[in-house]
Amino acid sequence: MERQQLLAAIKPRMPEKRYIHTQGVMHTAIALAKRYDEDPSKAETAAILHDMAKYEDVTKMEDIIRRENLDLSVIGWGSELLHGPIAAYYAQTQFGITDQDVLNAIHYHTTGRAGMSKLEKIIFVADMIEPSRNYPGVERLRNKAQKNLDKAMSACVRHSLRFLIDTKQPIFPLTLTCYNDIMNGENK
Ligand SMILES: [Fe+2]
Ligand SMILES: [Fe+2]
Repeated sequence: MERQQLLAAIKPRMPEKRYIHTQGVMHTAIALAKRYDEDPSKAETAAILHDMAKYEDVTKMEDIIRRENLDLSVIGWGSELLHGPIAAYYAQTQFGITDQDVLNAIHYHTTGRAGMSKLEKIIFVADMIEPSRNYPGVERLRNKAQKNLDKAMSACVRHSLRFLIDTKQPIFPLTLTCYNDIMNGENK
């Protein structure tokens, strides 16, 4: 599907603010893909679709997880953890996306995981640094993303973990696995 078709399809599923965020992720992910030698059209597709389930009903999403035998570990973690896997499921079933790397980039955009592909890192980082993001420290993350994708990914995960701890929120195990994987790589 072309960019405009995809954007038109996801726009009614979210408030204007999230749509602006989505377009920001799209532009940022395409720029990162070009910079780090990844396919910009894959980055575009994954970015446009990544948050399409963000406002879906939690019970409905949990039902899909059970019915379709998806990863049960996200049950009980709310929309924040459900919307990635469900968006990947919709990408496949409603949009006909078959590229596993694109599907994984959508699936793991909130949690990260060990052994992420370049495209997965691009979407994860782009999600955190797109132009409408405005939180203390975002400028530092943007600068890192210009220089080194792995270092940017590392900084983004550490930023997310610090935020979760500071705001007394639980940490999804996959995010810790992601962090450990990155630290084991950096400390080799
Ligand atoms: Fe998201
Ligand atoms: Fe997002």
